[in-house]
Amino acid sequence: MVFADSWLALRAEADRRARAAVLDKQLAMHLRRRLAGGQTLLNLIDLGTGSGANGVYLAPRLPGPQHWHLFDHDAALLARATTRVASAADEAGRTPIVSSRCGDLADRVGEGFHGMDLVTASALIDLVGDRWLRLLADQLAAAGAALLVTLSVDGGWRFLDAGGRPVSDPDDDKVCALFNAHQRRDKGPEGALGAAAAPNLVRHLQTLGLVVMTAPSPWRLALDRADDRALALALLQGWLDAAIEQSPGEAEGIRRWGGRRRAWMEVGSGGIEVGHVDVLALPATRSDD
Ligand SMILES: C[S@@+](CC[C@H](N)C(=O)[O-])C[C@H]1O[C@@H](n2cnc3c(N)ncnc32)[C@H](O)[C@@H]1O
Repeated sequence: MVFADSWLALRAEADRRARAAVLDKQLAMHLRRRLAGGQTLLNLIDLGTGSGANGVYLAPRLPGPQHWHLFDHDAALLARATTRVASAADEAGRTPIVSSRCGDLADRVGEGFHGMDLVTASALIDLVGDRWLRLLADQLAAAGAALLVTLSVDGGWRFLDAGGRPVSDPDDDKVCALFNAHQRRDKGPEGALGAAAAPNLVRHLQTLGLVVMTAPSPWRLALDRADDRALALALLQGWLDAAIEQSPGEAEGIRRWGGRRRAWMEVGSGGIEVGHVDVLALPATRSDD
C-alpha cells in the first residue's frame, strides 16, 4: 500500500501524543542494560518507516549511540525519513547513524534480524497477515532483539461530548463494523488482519516465551483544535468511503450517518477517540539482563 506524505503529516501529532510512554521507558531500560553489558552501538530497525515519525519519536527517548536502519517500499518517503531521523538525537544528544533500504516487508522479514537490538514499527501491523506476524515473532526470538510495535488499531472509536461522555448514533456500530471488515481486506503482505493484528502478535510472542507488555495508545482528538479537527474530518471521510465500498447496497444510510456525524463535528466542542494499542516484547532471559 502507498501512503501519502500529507496523510502521515496529518496524523503525526496525534500519534506522538497517543503513544504509550510507559513502554518507551521499559524499552530504554532494557537497551541501557545492553550497553552496560559492553555493547558500543545499538542497531534499531524501523519496518514500514514512512516519513520517519517512529525514529524521530524514539531516538531521543532511548540511549545510544544509535544506528537506525529504515525500511519501506516507498523510496520517496524513505529519502525524507532518512533526513528527518538523521537530524534527531539520542537521549545524550548524539546524532544517530542512519541507513535505509527500499524493499518489500514480505521479503525483509524472511531475512531475520541478526545483529539488531530493536525491531520496531508504528501504524503498520494492521496491514499485514498472520503468517507474516508469526515469522516476525520467530525471527525476533532467534535474533534475541526487543520489539516495539505501536499504534495498531483496536477496532473501536467513540464520539465524545466536551465532558468526555459518549455521544452515540444508532448507526455508529454498523458503520464501525463495516469499516473493520474493510480493514481486513488485502492491503499488505498476505492479507490484512486489521484490529486482530495486535492480539495475534501478542499470542505469537508469548508462545515463544518472550516477556510481552501492552498498553493502550488511543488517538484523543479535540474538535476545538484545528489540527485534530482536520484529522477527525479526514477520518470520517475514510470511514464513510470504506463502509460504502464494503456494503454498496447500504450507501444511502451510511451517507446519512456521515452527514449527521459531520454536522455534529462542525459544532466543534467534543472529540473523537480512536482505539490503538502498543506492544513491547523483550527477550525472556539474557546474560546481560
Ligand atoms: C501507515 S504508514 C506508517 C508509516 C510510519 N511508520 C508512521 O508511523 O508514520 C505504513 C507504511 O508502511 C509501508 N508499507 C506498506 N506495505 C509495505 C510493504 N509491503 N513493504 C514495505 N513497506 C510497506 C508504507 O509505504 C508506509 O510508509
